Amino acid sequence: MQLKTKHLLGLENVSSSDIQSILDTAVSFKQVLERPIKKVPTLQGKTVVNLFYENSTRTRISFELAEKRLSADSVNFSVSGSSVSKGETFKDTVRNIEAMKVDMIVVRHGSAGVPQYLTKISDSVVINAGDGIHEHPTQALLDMYSIREKLGKLEGLKVCIVGDIAHSRVALSNIFGLQAMGAEVSVCGPATLIPRNIGDLGVKVIHNIDEAIQENDVLNILRIQLERKARAAFPSTREYHKYYGITKERMEKNKKDVLLLHPGPINRGVEISSEMADGEHQIILEQVTNGVAVRMAILYLLGTRQGEDN
Ligand code: CP
Repeated sequence: MQLKTKHLLGLENVSSSDIQSILDTAVSFKQVLERPIKKVPTLQGKTVVNLFYENSTRTRISFELAEKRLSADSVNFSVSGSSVSKGETFKDTVRNIEAMKVDMIVVRHGSAGVPQYLTKISDSVVINAGDGIHEHPTQALLDMYSIREKLGKLEGLKVCIVGDIAHSRVALSNIFGLQAMGAEVSVCGPATLIPRNIGDLGVKVIHNIDEAIQENDVLNILRIQLERKARAAFPSTREYHKYYGITKERMEKNKKDVLLLHPGPINRGVEISSEMADGEHQIILEQVTNGVAVRMAILYLLGTRQGEDN
């Protein structure tokens, strides 16, 4: 399988055949992860730098494990403890790291567009691990993998993304990816957390959470990003939980066997009750497990890709 795309900057312009290749390849890597020795020599001799300018638990550890499972040499950079505190620019930092001969850069940054910029100033293959409120393509791919694994398909499924759409990079990547794979995507939340022009992307807007539960096969529940000013979009987290929180009572009232996803980290008692976050409908930790296999697939397909186009 040869990907058309050279980098993974987002899912906006990634073809359904590339998404299909990544998801299918991840199935094989998930089998590797279930063996007693969870390692293959596929990327032996390749060097990957995880360039994290923003905090992360899942994505960073998942990438690091994926790189190690593929036998790549893996190096972690985080702002804290680096020479960024001495005033070194992003460009100088990248050029110095590249001078040490690296092949791939996995980047997370608080500013949208940094992965794209990185492709202009470096020769490495670039993978976006989350840029500002723009995209988080590997999260959307692992979400799609997890839905497909559980429900057997993506085409024709009805998937609703619930909550803080306005501040979410996960939402945009899920919209682009799921639509490319033939799913019907909607969003649900208070008007203050839904961008006014979201309908232009072909998604239905729902403001009533009960309607969202009744109409959909899958709810992808997003974290309310209190650190990105979401707090100003509603009177209190208690009020948000009352009207939009996923609770046992709400699920029982709507009597619907809907699959619940959450990219993490969770605000327990805000977008989802603790009981539901650990309950039978959710696959939150399965998403995390699948994330390693999906990232192995992405690293393998981009790291062994031939040709210069895209
Ligand atoms: N889902 C996600 O991106 O989590 P982290 O911020 O912990 O990487």
